Amino acid sequence: MGSIPADEMREWVRETVDRILEGKPRNIYEIGAGVGLIMFPLLDRCKSYCATDLSREAVEYLKKHTPGGREGVSYYQRPADDLGDVEVGKYETFVLNSVVQYFPSIEYLERVIEGIMNCIGGEGVIFLGDIRDHRLLKHFHSSVAIYQAEDGTDPTTLRKNIEKRIANDSELTLDPDFFIGLKSKHPQISHIEMRLKRGMVQNELTKFRYDVLIYLGKSSPPQWSKIEWDRDEKRLLGEAEKHGGRFQIVNIPNFSVLGIDESIKLIDSGEDLDIQKLKALNDFGQARAEWEALYSLFSSGYRVEPILDASDPVKFSLYVEKSQCFDS
Ligand SMILES: C[S@@+](CC[C@H](N)C(=O)[O-])C[C@H]1O[C@@H](n2cnc3c(N)ncnc32)[C@H](O)[C@@H]1O
Repeated sequence: MGSIPADEMREWVRETVDRILEGKPRNIYEIGAGVGLIMFPLLDRCKSYCATDLSREAVEYLKKHTPGGREGVSYYQRPADDLGDVEVGKYETFVLNSVVQYFPSIEYLERVIEGIMNCIGGEGVIFLGDIRDHRLLKHFHSSVAIYQAEDGTDPTTLRKNIEKRIANDSELTLDPDFFIGLKSKHPQISHIEMRLKRGMVQNELTKFRYDVLIYLGKSSPPQWSKIEWDRDEKRLLGEAEKHGGRFQIVNIPNFSVLGIDESIKLIDSGEDLDIQKLKALNDFGQARAEWEALYSLFSSGYRVEPILDASDPVKFSLYVEKSQCFDS
């Protein structure tokens, strides 16, 4: 699978930054800011920014590379769960992008989220980007193992490789049910959105991960009338027409993971394997074409947002909204 090409990284940063900007942040507190991939594009779009990281080198790097004269920026070397001296209400937007997978446990994450909720105090949003989907752990490792497999690899060897990869993976992965449970525990959470990556870039940062937006103290979330997905575009558009400016298409096959899902079934069947066929099933091109075709149906004047299906990782739904009513 190798490293992520630079243009795909740029796209990933842009998509992430856009999602954070949607909430029109004023004062941002970032946990695990790293080398500022998310911080630097956000700096000019907010009033104040607090960048924190466990690593001293990261914090030094951020200080050194912040454009001169930029006011309202502060830096701290501290772990995520050290929020002790953050003034309540000072920051309404908290960002944790591509960090949660390094947390030692789910309890640690929960403690961090609870600490953040106390710091926000009222209305705000917590953006948790790049959450590794626990339900797709086997899909992820199968995808890498197939990519690396040589022709003639037998099913047992491939299965063992996948199992070994899963056993050696110590990062934190999360089932969407964790967030659903969190909402039921904390009345200050008004709603939670779990979004898939948009799917135009297909790699390990996009296919097996999702972004979570935890909204606090907001009014009730917008209501979406539901339409069943239909491969027949005409029928789908006909249905959409009836629902006006805001609707949700449900039960769409998750194009990004369908191929690997089918590969897993083939590997688990124990039958002889055609490695080239498995590699073809994992080909990103097909998935990208499917995403493009879906988005092209609502290209102009609409905003689309792919939403994770908490009950089935091989499906998703799509929020579709006429652009002019998006801010209402
Ligand atoms: C992959 S980088 C992400 C950087 C940045 N957020 C981004 O999206 O590009 C992960 C960062 O999280 C930091 N980190 C890991 N565990 C942490 C913790 N418990 N508390 C604070 N920072 C942590 C690491 O030092 C590293 O800089």
